[in-house]
Amino acid sequence: MLGSMFSRLLQQNHDFEVFAFDRDLDITDEDALDIEFARVRPDFVLNCAAYTNVDLAESTRELAFKINAKGPGFVAAKCKAYGAKLIHFSTDYVFDGSKAGDGYMEGDVHCPINVYGESKLEGEKAIAAEMSDFYIIRTSWLFGPGGKNFVDTMLELGGEVLSGERDSLRVVDDQVGSPTYTFDLAEAVLRGFLLPFLEGGPQLDFGIYHLTNSGKCSWYEFAREIFRFKGMNVALKPISSEEFVRAAKRPKNSVLLSAKIDFGVRGWNVAVCEYLKKYLRG
Ligand SMILES: NC(=O)c1ccc[n+]([C@@H]2O[C@H](COP(=O)([O-])OP(=O)(O)OC[C@H]3O[C@@H](n4cnc5c(N)ncnc54)[C@H](OP(=O)(O)O)[C@@H]3O)[C@@H](O)[C@H]2O)c1
Repeated sequence: MLGSMFSRLLQQNHDFEVFAFDRDLDITDEDALDIEFARVRPDFVLNCAAYTNVDLAESTRELAFKINAKGPGFVAAKCKAYGAKLIHFSTDYVFDGSKAGDGYMEGDVHCPINVYGESKLEGEKAIAAEMSDFYIIRTSWLFGPGGKNFVDTMLELGGEVLSGERDSLRVVDDQVGSPTYTFDLAEAVLRGFLLPFLEGGPQLDFGIYHLTNSGKCSWYEFAREIFRFKGMNVALKPISSEEFVRAAKRPKNSVLLSAKIDFGVRGWNVAVCEYLKKYLRG
């Protein structure tokens, strides 16, 4: 999802020469990385590759760590060797979600409660062990074109309710986070991190940043907004995490706030309306 959005956005900006990779470049293959770094000699590397199946990670721990921890370490080592700056993406799932009230700041103590979160945290550490010219951007609850996400899933399931295949939809109401549109995230990264280097403006200090759409909601409230906007009269029931058992535990509080900078990203509900209008007509 995020990688294809960056590719789309950066290719429209003629200040950049963009080399985009899919699965064809395996970030756990050091030799393959070497060949591409030698060919491209990048100034910046944006690493959006990850093992993102949170539930499956519980039973495929080794693979999750290989892709989310070892891979970013390899990419960071190559960036250092070739003098490239690295922008890497991490997650709200590095926190346990027990913080009361506010969201998590960059410096808050992390303590993941599932394998995916553990592997992503190890990825952050692997990068910091290799180099210092990096930005690690923690984000949350992504939606956008190019991959299955919560918005698409709700529309599919909501359609089944409307066609009578299902009675109603039960959606978790005790996990809170900030849904984030890949377009808004990519645009903020371009504006906040990449362009200052190109234009010679003041640059943000290297390190970890939290970046999401603004505002927060539960999954239930997120679903309600999607159906409201689409005019779908779907019977929706709020349930607790305990009533919706999944392989991986999820943090109750997934809200990320930044103690470093306000990127001024619009509200998640405005962004979801735009996504629905632009990509999911009908
Ligand atoms: N999605 C979210 O809600 C969310 C929330 C917080 C943070 N993030 C982080 O944001 C970033 C982007 O997430 P996303 O949702 O855009 O992920 P995504 O849609 O799942 O994309 C990840 C891509 O990485 C590829 N990949 C997997 N293993 C690879 C490897 N060894 N070498 C190269 N590519 C590999 C995947 O290919 P295959 O599909 O073929 O495996 C997939 O195309 C990730 O770092 C993720 O951890 C995501």
